[in-house]
Amino acid sequence: MILITGATGTIGTEVTRLLAQAGVPARAMTRDPARAGGTAVPAVRGDFEDPRSLEAAAAGARAALLLTGFGPRLAEHDRAFVAAAEKAGVETIVKISAIGAQDTGDPGDVASLHAAGERAVTGSRAAWTILRPSMFATNALAWADIVKAGQPIPNMTGAGRQGIVDPRDIAALAVAALTGSGHEGRIYEVTGPDLLTVADQAELIGKAIGRRVETVDVPIERAAAQIPDAAYARAAAKGWAFIASGGNAVVTTAVRDVLGREARGFGQWAEENKAAFQNNVG
Ligand SMILES: NC(=O)c1ccc[n+]([C@@H]2O[C@H](COP(=O)([O-])OP(=O)(O)OC[C@H]3O[C@@H](n4cnc5c(N)ncnc54)[C@H](OP(=O)(O)O)[C@@H]3O)[C@@H](O)[C@H]2O)c1
Repeated sequence: MILITGATGTIGTEVTRLLAQAGVPARAMTRDPARAGGTAVPAVRGDFEDPRSLEAAAAGARAALLLTGFGPRLAEHDRAFVAAAEKAGVETIVKISAIGAQDTGDPGDVASLHAAGERAVTGSRAAWTILRPSMFATNALAWADIVKAGQPIPNMTGAGRQGIVDPRDIAALAVAALTGSGHEGRIYEVTGPDLLTVADQAELIGKAIGRRVETVDVPIERAAAQIPDAAYARAAAKGWAFIASGGNAVVTTAVRDVLGREARGFGQWAEENKAAFQNNVG
C-alpha cells in the first residue's frame, strides 16, 4: 500500500488518480476525509501537526509520497512525517520539493525550507527520491478572472524565463518513483520542455482562447505589498526577483529520462484548460 500525503491538492489528486487507474493499492491522507469526499483511493485522516495521526496514516504503507504545502512550518512537517514513517516501517519516501532548493541563509524562504525538509528525508532510514519541480502551469489559473475581464496579466518577473511544468508530469514521475525501481537516492529537477516568460505564457493562453492577452509590468515591491501575510509576501518577492534575474531559466530532461516521453508544454496545458479563461456568457 502506498500513502499519498497532500492527496487533495494539485499533485496529490493526480497521483491518486494514476495509482487508482493502475490498480495500485493506495491511501489518500487529508486533514478532513469527510470534506475530501471524492478522493480516487480510500481517504485517511492525517495532519502534519499531529504526529499520532501521521503514524496511524502511515501504518501498513510500503511507500509514501511526502507533499507538505508551502508555509513557515513546511520543514517541521517534513520532519514529523519522516519520524512517523520510520516508526511505521515505511520503506520508500518520495518528497515533492522545489527547484533551486538550497540553504540561502534565510530560513523562511521556499528554497531553505525545502532544503531542510530534504535533509529530513535524505537522513531517514527509508530509501528516498526527491522531485524538485519548476513553476507549475496550474499557477496560471490565478490569472483566470483577469483574463476573463479582458485585463492585462500582471508581470513581476520581467523577461525572466522558466521551464513551466505541467503538474500531471510531476505526478507521473512521482508514481514512477513510488512504484518502480532505479529511483532510490535520485534528485530529479522536473521542468516543462520550454523556457517561457510571463508574456510567452500570455501569448499561449491567447492562442488557446482566440484573442490577444496582454501583460503589464508590476514592480515587485508593489505586488508584494498586496499580499496580507508578511511571510508569504517576503517569499513571493524573493521568488519573483530570482526568476526576473534569470535564476530559474532551467530546462531538464527528467520527464523524458524517467517516463520515456516528452514533457507536456504550456501551450497544450492552456489549450486543455482554456475554459477557465473564457467567459461562458455571450
Ligand atoms: N506551485 C508551484 O509552482 C510549485 C513549484 C515548485 C514546488 N512547489 C511545491 O509543491 C507543494 C505544493 O503542491 P500542491 O500545489 O500539489 O499542493 P496544494 O494544491 O497546495 O495542496 C496542499 C495539500 O496539503 C495538504 N495539507 C495542508 N496542510 C496540511 C496539514 N497540516 N496536514 C496534512 N495535510 C495538509 C492539503 O490537504 P487537506 O487540506 O485535504 O488536509 C492539500 O492536499 C509545496 O511544497 C510547494 O512548495 C510548488
